[in-house]
Amino acid sequence: MDRDHLLEVQDKLAPISRQSAAEGIVLLKNDQAVLPIQQSDNLAVFGRCQLDTYRSGTGSGGAVNVRYSISLIEGLLANDSIELNENLLQRYRDWVKENPFDDGGGGWAAEPWYQEELLLSDEEVALASSQSNKAMFIIGRTAGEDQDNADASGSYKMTDTEVSMLTKITQNFSEVIVVMNTTNIMDMSWLMTLEHRHSIKSVVYCWAAGMEGGHALADVLSGDVSPSGKLTDTIAYDLCDYPSSANFGGTTHNCYAEDVYVGYRYFETFKPNAVQFEFGFGLSYTAFKQELVDFDVVGQGKNSIVRASIKVTNVGEHYVGKEVVQVYLEAPQGQLGKPARVLVGFKKTSPLKPGASETLVISMPVRDFASYDDSGVTGNKSCYVLEKGDYCFHVGSSVRDTTKLLHRYHVSNTFVTEQCQEALAPIRSFERIKPVKQRDSYYGVDFESVPLRTVSLSERVESNLPQALVITGDLGYKLLDVKNGSVTMEQFVSQLSLPQLATMVRGEGMCSPKVTPGTAAAFGGVSDDLIDFGIPAVAAADGPSGIRMDSGHKATQVPIGTLLGCTWNSELNEELFYWVGEELRAYQIDTLLGPGVNIHRHPLNGRNFEYFSEDPFVTGTLAAAQVKGLKKAGVTGTLKHFAANDQETGRMDVDSVMSERAIREVHIKPFEMAVKHGGATTIMTCYNPVNGHWGASNYDLNTSVLRQEWGFKGIVMTDWWAKMNHPTEGGVEDKIHTSYMIRAQNDLYMVVDNDGAAINVAGDDTLTAIEQGTLTLGELQRSVMNICWFILDTPAMERPIVRYEPVKAIRSFNEYLGSDAIALDALSTVEVSKTTSVVVEVLEGATYQVSAVMSYDKPSLAQSSCALSLNDEFCMSLSVHGTEGERVNIEGSQVHLEKGFYHLCIDFVKAGATLHELNLKPC
Ligand code: BGC
Repeated sequence: MDRDHLLEVQDKLAPISRQSAAEGIVLLKNDQAVLPIQQSDNLAVFGRCQLDTYRSGTGSGGAVNVRYSISLIEGLLANDSIELNENLLQRYRDWVKENPFDDGGGGWAAEPWYQEELLLSDEEVALASSQSNKAMFIIGRTAGEDQDNADASGSYKMTDTEVSMLTKITQNFSEVIVVMNTTNIMDMSWLMTLEHRHSIKSVVYCWAAGMEGGHALADVLSGDVSPSGKLTDTIAYDLCDYPSSANFGGTTHNCYAEDVYVGYRYFETFKPNAVQFEFGFGLSYTAFKQELVDFDVVGQGKNSIVRASIKVTNVGEHYVGKEVVQVYLEAPQGQLGKPARVLVGFKKTSPLKPGASETLVISMPVRDFASYDDSGVTGNKSCYVLEKGDYCFHVGSSVRDTTKLLHRYHVSNTFVTEQCQEALAPIRSFERIKPVKQRDSYYGVDFESVPLRTVSLSERVESNLPQALVITGDLGYKLLDVKNGSVTMEQFVSQLSLPQLATMVRGEGMCSPKVTPGTAAAFGGVSDDLIDFGIPAVAAADGPSGIRMDSGHKATQVPIGTLLGCTWNSELNEELFYWVGEELRAYQIDTLLGPGVNIHRHPLNGRNFEYFSEDPFVTGTLAAAQVKGLKKAGVTGTLKHFAANDQETGRMDVDSVMSERAIREVHIKPFEMAVKHGGATTIMTCYNPVNGHWGASNYDLNTSVLRQEWGFKGIVMTDWWAKMNHPTEGGVEDKIHTSYMIRAQNDLYMVVDNDGAAINVAGDDTLTAIEQGTLTLGELQRSVMNICWFILDTPAMERPIVRYEPVKAIRSFNEYLGSDAIALDALSTVEVSKTTSVVVEVLEGATYQVSAVMSYDKPSLAQSSCALSLNDEFCMSLSVHGTEGERVNIEGSQVHLEKGFYHLCIDFVKAGATLHELNLKPC
């Protein structure tokens, strides 16, 4: 790795991360232009998160080891035009020192959703108000993997202390700004009920804005950047009003009774009065006018494209700003029933000076206006159809603040835009909602039965079995020969023996020493004989908000997915991820495990922060842009979690039961867009079943739709330690059912223990199934070819493809004057769960095999690891996932040590586990 180049890349990435963060900050309220802060103002900042600023959520999606992180207060202090109340700041500094951030011990899903807040006395707040004219209160919340939010104080709702503090502040100040440093939307109904709420002049969602978040907030508060972020979720007054509330959190299954009516599609159709802040909403310091200057339809029939040209003018006097033009479709109800509004196009302007204009041309293929007929009610079962009638357009700056265009797209006779096949239909009956016209312009809720599966999955699988290739044995072809065109992929893969083929579909991790330290997986050339075929070991690392390396190596944390969604800026997302791609490349990592493109179906989902929005179009557009950016840098992104991984409660087992229409129009739409428009070539399946079949063994998901309909060429990998059940019969799930996974064309199992792929350490059933005839050789070879095609396009092909060299040599220091050096074999009695350093004395120079005994008192999906370094040189990571307290052996790498002394540091980069023994045995 070229360190100078890495630093250069990181220096380029940081300012773009800052710009993105500033563009995703959403201003919800700004009465009497209390923002931006003026030179004449003195700002009193309340709330501990000014110092303990959240920069991401918890779990795999937020665990980036950063070079630095700018807290909100550091950002404000660095901005010359903001004057702060220093006394108050000192009070917070002192208190935070005595009441440090509670990370819950640092373990998996252990971090609390909120931090204890300082409750200042009335006198202290009054004193602050005598020194400052404006107050800012920061509310912080986090959430993440393995733990949904709760409809409770300290999670979705404010704590009593927060309410008391805000009450005191609003009592004493007449100009109060509330900043939401949160990973998700929160209950905002207090804006209507708080006693002195009239003092709250401004509300800002700054989200968790990555490591440059403090600077970005200061850019916005100071007016250096006028806010241009727009909500990608609806904030309703009451959580009960979200249509999925009735089912969210189910522990066996979860019926998606709201069907396609997710978020604003529901509220704008059925319940507009329940909305506090609407989808697409966000204020600026300036004002804009939007005018339609041109409208036309080009092309014919299903290939027609509607084009609307909108001129945007900055009609304010003082601030440069950007505006988002949003186009919503109002389709005829027809037989299927439709949401009253569906986002079908958007674009953001460049920065416009007061008086300046820009005309944005928004092109909308009419195919995107079609609805999926899963029942055949239009006479076109399993098709996307445009039902007859007028398709109207509402253009503006939020789903509410729009003008209805006089121009329409008229369909005289219902027609099909795409013929699909019935796929992914539910097997459990339930009812879904459907609009019924009322006297006013809104709709009442009606119900209809969801159409159930009518096709035979086993016939489908049987009729699509690939031909097996005759195994030739090693003919000397290398993978590169396929790239050069001298042999076909078939000829190349024919060389692999059955055990070699089975090894290819197993990834190793976490923290495989065969690739960049601390990453989530190595796959491809994970054994010597595969490497001899010229197949390199490929590295995959979490994502999505920056590179996670549990070795402690430092990377850039970019803002969370939700914030990036709120930028509504495709070009910026592309650029940001181009630079993330360059950072991946500098670290020799080939794919980022992100973007996360699940839908914000419910505000309490713990992982919402990793995803963009409640809307599939904005999600798909921005995800496609991110993938494009990554690809431009030569690497790629892995879309996850395919599909409907919409709650963390029982995330491995709870069946997402949904109609084919809801799956297609909402939940897999972003994946489809990122595949078709972004060129995505890797996808991670979900842990959960979708209509009875676990994601990793779901044939319709991974083959019928993804590959046959969308033409996806690439690999599908499981989520880490996922389970699979029978692809046609359903039934019992298990981690060892890789034959089911391969049959479904989920190519790669993630992950088996390090160095365990070739010996089938997990005891999976790939080869037994082939022996027994329940999986064919052709199917296994098909998945291996998918993997090889993918690998051919990775930068791994440009790295030296050499056998993994297990021995790392580290130099000793010969003299040690301290008295506490311990002998190497004394390490077998260490018992540590916190970062620890010792000096060890090596009496005999030799190559040592490192192994450990570790335990982790958590369920199997929890992740923990420690990094070992010797004399400040990174040596290896020992990684363990939840063992429910059982002690397990963890095999480390080999290290060559000379006679002498070593500083050994055991760094719990991802805390939680206990290291009971560390053994170094001469080889
Ligand atoms: C998460 C994935 C993640 C993987 C590797 C799983 O627990 O669900 O999103 O990429 O771990 O860390």
